[in-house]
Amino acid sequence: MVHVPSSLRNVIIFLDTDKHASPFDLLTASDLYPDAQMLYYSNVEPGDTRKIIQDAMFPRGPDGAKKTKVFIGGYDVEKANQILAETKKAMFKPFELGIIVDPRGASTTGSAVVARVLNLYRRSNPNLKGSSATVLAATGPVGRVACHLLASEGIQVRATSRSLEKVNGLADKINQDLNTNLVEGTKGQTQEEIGKAVQDSEIIIAAGAAGAQLLSLDILKNYGGKCRVVGDVNAIPPLGVEGLKSTDDGVEFFPGVRGIGALAIGASKNKIEAELFRRAIDMTKGVFDHVVAYEISKSLFMEKGGRLPEAAVKPRFGMEFVPEKAIDKMISWVKMAEDGGFDNVWVTDHYNNRNVYMLLTAIALNTKTITIGTGVTNPFHINPAWTASALATLDELSGNRTILGIGPGDVTTLRSLGIAQEKPLTAVKESIEIIKKLWKGETVQFDGKVFSVKGARLNYKPKRSPPIYMGAQGPKLLELAGAIADGVLINAAHPRDFVFAVEQIKKGARTAGRDHSQIDIVAYASVSVDYESKKARKKAKEVVAFIVAGSPAEVLKRHDISPENASKILAHLEKGAFGDAFDSITDQMLDSFSICGRPSDIVDKIDEILKIGVTQIVIGSPIGPNKADAIYVLSKDVLPHFR
Ligand SMILES: NC(=O)c1ccc[n+]([C@@H]2O[C@H](COP(=O)([O-])OP(=O)(O)OC[C@H]3O[C@@H](n4cnc5c(N)ncnc54)[C@H](OP(=O)(O)O)[C@@H]3O)[C@@H](O)[C@H]2O)c1
Repeated sequence: MVHVPSSLRNVIIFLDTDKHASPFDLLTASDLYPDAQMLYYSNVEPGDTRKIIQDAMFPRGPDGAKKTKVFIGGYDVEKANQILAETKKAMFKPFELGIIVDPRGASTTGSAVVARVLNLYRRSNPNLKGSSATVLAATGPVGRVACHLLASEGIQVRATSRSLEKVNGLADKINQDLNTNLVEGTKGQTQEEIGKAVQDSEIIIAAGAAGAQLLSLDILKNYGGKCRVVGDVNAIPPLGVEGLKSTDDGVEFFPGVRGIGALAIGASKNKIEAELFRRAIDMTKGVFDHVVAYEISKSLFMEKGGRLPEAAVKPRFGMEFVPEKAIDKMISWVKMAEDGGFDNVWVTDHYNNRNVYMLLTAIALNTKTITIGTGVTNPFHINPAWTASALATLDELSGNRTILGIGPGDVTTLRSLGIAQEKPLTAVKESIEIIKKLWKGETVQFDGKVFSVKGARLNYKPKRSPPIYMGAQGPKLLELAGAIADGVLINAAHPRDFVFAVEQIKKGARTAGRDHSQIDIVAYASVSVDYESKKARKKAKEVVAFIVAGSPAEVLKRHDISPENASKILAHLEKGAFGDAFDSITDQMLDSFSICGRPSDIVDKIDEILKIGVTQIVIGSPIGPNKADAIYVLSKDVLPHFR
């Protein structure tokens, strides 16, 4: 989210390849941002770009650059792509402008038709991978985007054109970009050729030029036996698909086949375009193209709950913060999380970062609804009586918005303080007992194996006992958590680890005679999100390297990672050779120990975890390459899928 002086105005620079800049996008932007300054340039050639961009980057400094956006449009898509390349080349840190790319409305229209059609299709077949689609007249800008997005979902795509050479070129390009062979070009000029092209396809998209009818009812009847859904983007009569009206929105226009017409798709396109502008304006930088438009389309049009067919509960969402940055920055992030719909904020507790309770106090004073707590403290470096009082004070200050996260602590940090982590299980168990008694106002006599308390009591009576969450990973701690805690914070990201953890927690609950469904089972996961998957995954490596290096042998074995490789990474980290350590992280390691990628990747992975019995997701470090933007994206494109 852009945090810069409010005196700076939003500026949107329209670079249009046409003789007259399109009023369509200008009007959309000016309705959304009436106070923004719109600068528009027509007939823009790639060679003009550098001067315009650099003259826009400097006058208002880096803060002004954050409030300056570029919109690339026009009918000449090839030229628009060159202008995009030149715009990127002209920019450098810290003067990077956000860029919206929607030439001929193709990013937004292509995303709209694919998201709307797939949402309809998933009602009868939730599995997109392995399904088949045909995109008729795929060589235009909208058709290209549609083919790309369908293939990115693992759908087999047949793309047609009147020219086989043209469409084969398109198929090759998309297959190369996505590293797949899902797109196949086929000639689609005669009725028979089109019939053969739609045969076996469950999904048909007509992406032809205005006024060109491509699919007749006869072809649908004779060849479209498998077809379930049709989308048509052509709103000019004759329409692209016979019998499908431009206003149709999911109706069965042919026996067994539902359709979405061009005006219904147009209405969705307009919503997506508005959101694309909002994302670009609210975020500090980035390229907002068809990939982002499609992520937005999924948030807007994939039916709520459609992604959660088996999970019964609505999960809670938390965010972990490591107090390593300036307090005011951290508070601004927490406020964004609160505004974005997060339920909880967990602050880590290490002596070498800013103090957890100081930060939590500042957070309490600057927020209204979000629940806040330690994530996690430990009984070795802080006495449980001190923790009891700190939490009770924070609970009073925040209006009963606290949670206590407690675990055995991290051996390395404790060792650096000369503290031995002896009897970790017992220490956590005894601490929880002592803390609970103190909160109840009792005078505590406690003679344990780790702690001995002789008549300790708080001189004030806390209004309530905040929920206690145990940080646990090994089998014994997980079992103990099942027996005594209100929630369990599990440092993991892969379904396999949660299957194991949930079993242990249930076992502990059973032994203690508790109902396990009362325990909040939390995936405390390393997450990295960005609209650009590559960037998100690269950032995740910085955290995953430490997780791999510190994972016990049985966890590495569970994920088929050799102990030798983990030792090599540890050796790099110990030497301070961080680059070498991060470069050694494989895709398999990333997918075992983090949830990373685009928002829809995060949604899919969370979906899997929830089916195992997890009830809260804590978004842990690194969150994303740019923290503020990542929190914004999570709030906009991840949380809504689960609400
Ligand atoms: N609903 C909305 O909001 C919205 C927004 C933007 C665009 N649109 C519509 O979306 C459609 C696609 O837009 P676009 O810009 O990608 O289209 P386009 O480039 O004008 O045309 C797409 C393809 O149609 C084929 N085609 C052209 N004339 C044809 C004819 N007479 N018979 C059969 N095929 C023909 C061409 O493919 P080959 O030469 O390879 O065969 C062409 O590449 C258009 O109808 C446009 O009006 C709708």
